[in-house]
Amino acid sequence: MRPLGNTYFVGFGVFFLTAAAVSAAACDGGSDASGTSTISGTSTTSGTGGTGGAAPAEPFAPQGCMFQVAARPEYLEWSESKPETSATPNIRRVRLGLGGNTKPGEPGKVDPATTIGIGWQTDDGTLASAVRWGSSPDPSTWPAENRTTGVTWLTPEGTINANGNQRMHEVYVCGLTPETTYYYQVGGGPKDSEVWSDVYHFTTTPNNPNTPVSIVLAGDSRGQDNEAWRVLQNRATKLGATMQLFSGDMINFAPDQAEWEKWLDLAWKDSEGKLSTLGQLLTVHTHGNHENHTSLFYGNMLLPQDIANYPNYAELFYSFDVGPVHIVVVDDYWVGFPDGDPAYIPTLTAWLDADLTAANANRSEVPWIITMHHHGELSSSTHGTDSEVIAGREYFMPIWDKYHVDLAVAGHDHNYERSKPVTGPADSPTPVNLNEGTVYLVCAGVGADAYGSGTSSFTDVSHNFSSGEFIGFYSILSATKTALTIDGYELHIDGADVKFDSLTLTK
Ligand SMILES: [Fe+2]
Repeated sequence: MRPLGNTYFVGFGVFFLTAAAVSAAACDGGSDASGTSTISGTSTTSGTGGTGGAAPAEPFAPQGCMFQVAARPEYLEWSESKPETSATPNIRRVRLGLGGNTKPGEPGKVDPATTIGIGWQTDDGTLASAVRWGSSPDPSTWPAENRTTGVTWLTPEGTINANGNQRMHEVYVCGLTPETTYYYQVGGGPKDSEVWSDVYHFTTTPNNPNTPVSIVLAGDSRGQDNEAWRVLQNRATKLGATMQLFSGDMINFAPDQAEWEKWLDLAWKDSEGKLSTLGQLLTVHTHGNHENHTSLFYGNMLLPQDIANYPNYAELFYSFDVGPVHIVVVDDYWVGFPDGDPAYIPTLTAWLDADLTAANANRSEVPWIITMHHHGELSSSTHGTDSEVIAGREYFMPIWDKYHVDLAVAGHDHNYERSKPVTGPADSPTPVNLNEGTVYLVCAGVGADAYGSGTSSFTDVSHNFSSGEFIGFYSILSATKTALTIDGYELHIDGADVKFDSLTLTK
């Protein structure tokens, strides 16, 4: 790594995700397969599934950011935005995400308190990729220097309902102030003919562990027959959540861009056309078994990537702090299906050991550790005895035990099941006193079909939405420096959500 002023540019090599990787996912339920600082730039990732396309000559180093991002080989016409590049009014699906490295202690480690990734789509002819921002809703008050540019490319069309390549744009803004609301627009273009989007706003997360946080948790929106995903976004907006976690399976068929766009659209605007969470509330994802490591997954989402240390696994595992919580996000697909990429587990294990060792050493400052991946370790529902779920249980539980992870969240089974605090062997988890073990939570179903619920010796609360009286589940994870509360909610269309579970861990 070589420092340039206050920016560190990491070394780079062209990389590819192991192709073997990406066979179609196993199916669920038998269905499928201010004003401030300096700023930023953008882009994306590496390949798999290898749909061709030349790799870019070099990765993009966002202005003012201490990290780099790189295009995937299959992307087309990847380029940095230039002042003369064109802009047209067709800006849509403005979304927030994360950039940054993944190694503890490295400059540029992903941090939602001071950085943000912003992505959007346009017509194919628009090459302008700029963001401008300020501390009030009125763009005329924004300092001229609060502007930066990013990159753009075409994501090749998917193999289902092929509807053409998709023009994507990404910009990263760094050096932001924690717990601060920023107003922004995306667009750009030549001087005197710029085009800008609506004004969006977001609030950076706290980096002070003494600041309480409220995190909305959900997963498995695939299908989206009942617009539960949209209803939940209305709720998250009303709650004023710090951020949102999504445990995977956003879509049913990953090669279908229309599904990704439906997911984005349901969060972009509410039923009255008002801006919702997309572009305004940070939502952090993990890869489920339906995302299929497709370029459409990488192209539609903005996730951290460590191209210097983990060039083969961009956007697949990362961690960050939010107030008093350390959050670890992992793609568990090749844990359940190790033949897909035998190198993944040893790489992931080394990263988890390093990350959790550092997090444990920082417990006096950031006391809580929450992990998120897709296939839940402990479930008494449909997938509880699937071979890939058992493989994940045997892999993850000893690691979570070793580092005393407080809460492990997941989806995959479309129901709600929270365990007692447990430790011990994966095949016979032992209930222990509150605050002495790990609590395992499956909380999923915001658009996907309902699964039945069950109970096991480790189960504390189990619930399902098969009755049709409500349309899914979500949780609110509320943390202070001394308490972590898990509240489980039924999602009702009329807003009369019912809290049916609450557990508070204390330090
Ligand atoms: Fe799943």
